[in-house]
Amino acid sequence: MNHVKIFDTTLRDGEQAPGFSMTGGQKLRLAKALEALKVDVMEAGFAAASAGDFEAIKTIATEVKDSVVCSLARCNEGDIRASGEALKPAARGRIHTFIATSPLHREFKLKMSKAEILRRAVAGVELARTYTDDVEFSCEDAIRTERDYMKTVCEAVIRAGATTINMPDTVGYTTPEEIQDLFEFLTTQVEGAENVIFSAHCHNDLGLAVANSLAAIRGGARQVECALNGIGERAGNCALEEVVMALRTRKDFFGITTGIETQGLYAASKLLATITGNPVPRNKAIVGKNAFAHESGIHQHGVLANRETYEIMKPEDVGVSTDNLVLGKHSGRAALKARAEKLGFTLADNQLASVFAAFKTLADDKKEVFDSDIEALVLGEAVGV
Ligand code: KIV
Ligand code: ZN
Repeated sequence: MNHVKIFDTTLRDGEQAPGFSMTGGQKLRLAKALEALKVDVMEAGFAAASAGDFEAIKTIATEVKDSVVCSLARCNEGDIRASGEALKPAARGRIHTFIATSPLHREFKLKMSKAEILRRAVAGVELARTYTDDVEFSCEDAIRTERDYMKTVCEAVIRAGATTINMPDTVGYTTPEEIQDLFEFLTTQVEGAENVIFSAHCHNDLGLAVANSLAAIRGGARQVECALNGIGERAGNCALEEVVMALRTRKDFFGITTGIETQGLYAASKLLATITGNPVPRNKAIVGKNAFAHESGIHQHGVLANRETYEIMKPEDVGVSTDNLVLGKHSGRAALKARAEKLGFTLADNQLASVFAAFKTLADDKKEVFDSDIEALVLGEAVGV
């Protein structure tokens, strides 16, 4: 299967990060944008976390029809029942239940034996299956879990009815080679692997979340968990727009498709930034203000001749305007002439030379030269000022 499901966790892992919490109404607005993007699954929240989150999940489950709506639950009865209840109105609901499996988490956080964790994992999945036949199970801190134990847990939860098994790199510790190898192991060595989808959930502590998610896909993952603008615990999760556009732009290399309507990426990213009050950095890949902007004369010259000289993606494919030549002190004559023409001025060579000299002086003083500045320069040249 050459299709990867996009599981969006902006409204759960993303919202968990300090500075990103949202009201129920804001979550619904964003859920609608995620549905329009055609994410396969949206994790709407953690039903047992608060009454507000329970209500938000219930509302999203009522309103969203085109994506599976999911709620997170620890492997305990209260959490799973809360998720099951919140998802009751969903056309398609998924319970995502998890328990940590790594030695560190077993000893210091859960204080549980391997056998006890295994028992809870199975009981959790079985209970979740009484609410829905779409159950995801995660081994929290999977990357730091012993492989033989992980295999045992996976096989047990598959027998219990899990349909998706997620391997979170909870602390963003893995590398592309390591995670690819892990997914190759899981998809070939786990009994019953052919009946489930393996999923990657990569955190960005070492700045590797997208690279690791792509490597996991190469290893056999057929679901990736990600968030708009890469938000999430600490340094965040795999950025949805980045992993999707990497797969699309390098389809020749990965041979994988997603169902995402990429033209909506920029607007969805902006909506999240506006709702949470966290602006997207200018240089952010895909959705940053500079992602498709060109200021230097050499680059502008190339782009004016053929956009592919400096653009590997079409800005309109992610919903960005194609007018992306930014005029500043690094810009050249070709870009100035093109912008003046767009503004309705045809400049003779001598006029262009004098407007260009005035433009360079202005650009040295200003960070960015706007259309109104160009108009003033051209009109000033015409009347000799
Ligand atoms: O990072 C993580 O381990 C998680 C799980 C709860 C899926 O977010
Ligand atoms: Zn996470």
